[in-house]
Amino acid sequence: MTVPPLIVAPSILAADFARLADEVRAIEHAADWLHVDVMDNHFVPNLTIGLPVVQSLRAATELPFDVHLMIEDPRRWAPGYADAGAYNVTFHAEACDDPVALAKDLRSAGAKAGLAIDRDTPIEPYLELLPSFDTLLIMTIKAGFGGQRFIPQLLDKVRTARRHIATGHLELRIEVDGGIAADTIEQAAEAGADAFVAGTAVYGADDPAEAVRRLRGLAERATTGA
Ligand code: DX5
Ligand code: ZN
Repeated sequence: MTVPPLIVAPSILAADFARLADEVRAIEHAADWLHVDVMDNHFVPNLTIGLPVVQSLRAATELPFDVHLMIEDPRRWAPGYADAGAYNVTFHAEACDDPVALAKDLRSAGAKAGLAIDRDTPIEPYLELLPSFDTLLIMTIKAGFGGQRFIPQLLDKVRTARRHIATGHLELRIEVDGGIAADTIEQAAEAGADAFVAGTAVYGADDPAEAVRRLRGLAERATTGA
């Protein structure tokens, strides 16, 4: 598999849950990953979907799954998503007392390991853990709901992480999640993000695939200056 320079990952949280397979197929040839938000009504107040839905959906598309676990006790549940065929499984730093151990478990289960940092969590304490991870997801809202307003100040964490990754010669994606749309993606790309989750901006559009292509174009231009 060739590694795309930028990843656009539509979030099915903003899709029509009664037509999930169709909604995924609508972006299948435009998107890089499918972002799947799992919420447990404990770590966040919202409740979404879990493993059975991911298992069923896995058979419906070729797209790699980027599972974002907003749940308590991820050590208990996260490896199940890797076993279900998720490409990347991201859990929250705030929910896990041994992130490195869980990253190892995920990698042994055949998935990439992702660490998510919520709005109120500083990035600095986690920088030294990054060699154990493949993805760093920096929330650009408070985790829990789609359709929230992007918080530009949180891009400082992206800048800090990007500098750290460059200095340490680490191979890691920096993913941003929350309020990513045509009017915010460029600043996120300039700050150093190279993976972009978008829910409302994709599934709220008349043509979701076209929305994905437009977002990618904006992010590419922002990073290459083209
Ligand atoms: C919210 C989820 C996001 C959400 C983003 O906690 O992690 O992935 O779907 O939705 P938008 O793009 O609408 O902000
Ligand atoms: Zn998410």
